[in-house]
Amino acid sequence: MTSAVPVVTDIAYQDLLDDPYPIFRRLRELAPAVYVEPAKLTLVTRFDDIVRIERDPATYSADNPASLVNKVMGPTFMRKDGAEHAIGRKAIEPSFRPATIKEHWAPKFTAIAQALIDDLSAADEADLFAALAAPMASLSLMAMIGFREMPWQTLADWSQALIDGAGNYAADAGVERKAMQASADVDAAIDAVLDDHRSKPNPSILSSMVNADPPMPIEGIRANIKVIIGGGLNEPRDAILTLVLGLLQDPTQKHSVLAKPELWPTALEEAVRWISPIGMYPRRVTRDVDLSGTTLPEDLQIGLCIGAANRDGNRFAEPDRFDVMRPKQSHLAFGAGPHFCAGTWVSRLTVGKIVAPMLFDRLRNLRLRAEVPPVVRGWVFRGPVTLPVRWDA
Ligand code: HEM
Repeated sequence: MTSAVPVVTDIAYQDLLDDPYPIFRRLRELAPAVYVEPAKLTLVTRFDDIVRIERDPATYSADNPASLVNKVMGPTFMRKDGAEHAIGRKAIEPSFRPATIKEHWAPKFTAIAQALIDDLSAADEADLFAALAAPMASLSLMAMIGFREMPWQTLADWSQALIDGAGNYAADAGVERKAMQASADVDAAIDAVLDDHRSKPNPSILSSMVNADPPMPIEGIRANIKVIIGGGLNEPRDAILTLVLGLLQDPTQKHSVLAKPELWPTALEEAVRWISPIGMYPRRVTRDVDLSGTTLPEDLQIGLCIGAANRDGNRFAEPDRFDVMRPKQSHLAFGAGPHFCAGTWVSRLTVGKIVAPMLFDRLRNLRLRAEVPPVVRGWVFRGPVTLPVRWDA
């Protein structure tokens, strides 16, 4: 006996943005899938159900022709299944190889972090969002893509405009205009460098794409670069901030990690479990199916709430606590299945091995400012939007 998807109407969208976790707990307890009226989407919030879904891409497709992502960015491999997805994924793979990350990207990202932290150390307080995390994520991604140098804010603005456009379900004309302008600007930035990358192959993503076998058509390059701009900037930014926040709000954990630097990678994994930078991503149900006793009809759009699954009490003890010492358990912050994040290893390196250790090493007695508490926001994407800190000059 299976049940229909229950509907919840009494949730304020603002509450989802401010603090989705009590709502996620309620949804997890209610049913495997719940239609949440203010989000206009059926949400899946239990860890085991999301793992099950990601193991069955034929039933739960990433391909969604009606997706706004396709409208704003073009046909991307992130919204394709099977062979079409694999071609796009293979085309970028050379830029993400472990040896390339270690030998090529690590020194570049270390230099970027050093320059930003040098600037910081002249002062004794800052908001780490704009002073470190956002420029760090933007400048690293700019280098990795293979763009000409530009102000970090330009790439960050394109990223935000594309993300806003892809989530513009209210069809706001201003949001659409900005997204389309960002899309045109990205196309121009690609055109400006593509011949160079073709004639002088190098580890950048554009070079990997243009020299792939078979070469990626220009529409594919454009769309996939936009997905990477939309998905490869805010997440490492938010992971840096969340990791720093987790440690600063609990001095015992901070001291444990500083005393045992080999804990940095674990601390990063715990940070993205605790507050997952991507809280939800979509899938489309391709046939009537039973998900743990709830019937999902063909063509239903569902949102996989990995931000909720990563706080599922059936998998993680005291799930709401940031706890670097918790028993090792895999999480879903980088997704699962065929679309598992391509940037996982590069983010683990940048955030967990370069930026966060260097920050705590260089800024003595780094601490939160009691009078200006940090603000964390979002549910589809979530992270600190301000992180004011102070240190000893
Ligand atoms: C802490 C940082 C990051 C987190 C938490 C994260 C998370 C995720 C998640 C959850 C997905 C799956 C989305 C879906 O299936 O719809 C994903 C996909 C992806 N991510 Fe990341 N990401 C991070 C950093 C990055 C970076 C730095 C890059 C690129 C430089 C990147 C590139 C991608 C790409 C290309 C995909 C699509 C993969 C595919 O469809 O096969 N990510 N990421």
